Amino acid sequence: MNRKGLIIGMITAAAYAGFLLIRIDATANISTQKARIKLGQYLFYDTKLSYNQTKTCVSCHDPVMAFTDGYRTSSGADGYNLKHNAISLLNVKYRTVFTWTKQSVTTLKAQLQFPFFNEHPKELGWKGNEQIILKRFLNDTQYQRLFKKAFPLQSNPFQLANVQTAIIAFEEQLVSYNAKYDRYVKGNFSSFSEDERNGLTLFSSNRLGCTGCHRWEQPFKKDHPLFSKGIRVPSLRNVLLTAPYMHDGRIENINGVLEYYSQKNSLYLTNKEKKQIISFLYTLTDTSYLSNKELLNPFQYQ
Ligand code: HEC
Ligand code: HEC
Repeated sequence: MNRKGLIIGMITAAAYAGFLLIRIDATANISTQKARIKLGQYLFYDTKLSYNQTKTCVSCHDPVMAFTDGYRTSSGADGYNLKHNAISLLNVKYRTVFTWTKQSVTTLKAQLQFPFFNEHPKELGWKGNEQIILKRFLNDTQYQRLFKKAFPLQSNPFQLANVQTAIIAFEEQLVSYNAKYDRYVKGNFSSFSEDERNGLTLFSSNRLGCTGCHRWEQPFKKDHPLFSKGIRVPSLRNVLLTAPYMHDGRIENINGVLEYYSQKNSLYLTNKEKKQIISFLYTLTDTSYLSNKELLNPFQYQ
């Protein structure tokens, strides 16, 4: 081979090797993907993720409350309150729009920039603290192992992009489609009590009109939420675990929500009807994910 041929050969080989590396990294084989989910699980539950080590995702997205926090509006790592009520993370993988009001946020990656970099309040407070936070993981033997396994081809895997990739891989595991109502829809009609059946009939009735906005998200199908006056119509899956209610958390409990609709839309709901609707809403609860340790606090199970 002449010199020119050799150089071209070397360039081709290097490009080919580079191509392979990128492809392997981008597609991430199954064991790498598993390692990313595991790393994401640790990060989701570790307050090392916030600048002052007080908060992490679970502070505002607790599995016991279907990954919400029970507060009217969540408080950030700096102690100041956010504008909005925390949203359940169950089934986020199947959503196409994120947050209560920002229709332009259409990926989990775009959504993540808010808790990481919001300044007023600071949710996790990464702005200006990126290197300090990443160094915490770099200096921790457990995280050295977790990051290496999750990003095996990178000489320095302690990067913001990797932290976010791992957290997203974990979020995508939060799936809950095993409510009593899911089984009812599949044909198990006899499982519903009389109150639950009457509640469903009321909920779906023209008189109440609930289903005009709150449609049922089908399991494992992409859900495109509706918006009403600039506010996203929330999913009612697991709704009895996610009080207080509305984007600003202004309504304390489910009775309050029904009273609000009763007055606003002149529905004149009786107490019996309210009870039936609540019985129906209970059938949208699915806590089976709570028996999957891979979704819960890994530090409790070490
Ligand atoms: C300080 C509390 C807080 C922290 C910390 C926090 N979140 Fe949130 N999260 C919220 C609130 C409040 C909302 C609703 C925001 C809005 O609509 O304005 C939200 C919304 C979301 C959504 C959108 C869900 C949807 O259906 O639209 C996702 C996804 C999410 N958070 C994931 C995370 C992850 C992952 C972390 C950790 C990296 C995290 N959050 C940290 C409070 C928090
Ligand atoms: C015009 C559309 C529309 C109709 C009709 C409607 N809702 Fe809603 N619903 C919404 C929106 C939008 C929100 C969030 C409002 C907010 O955050 O201020 C909401 C919130 C809720 C919540 C609180 C959920 C949460 O996580 O905070 C419940 C429960 C609820 N609706 C039940 C019902 C019931 C029951 C009916 C029928 C009586 C009904 N809705 C009719 C649009 C609608």
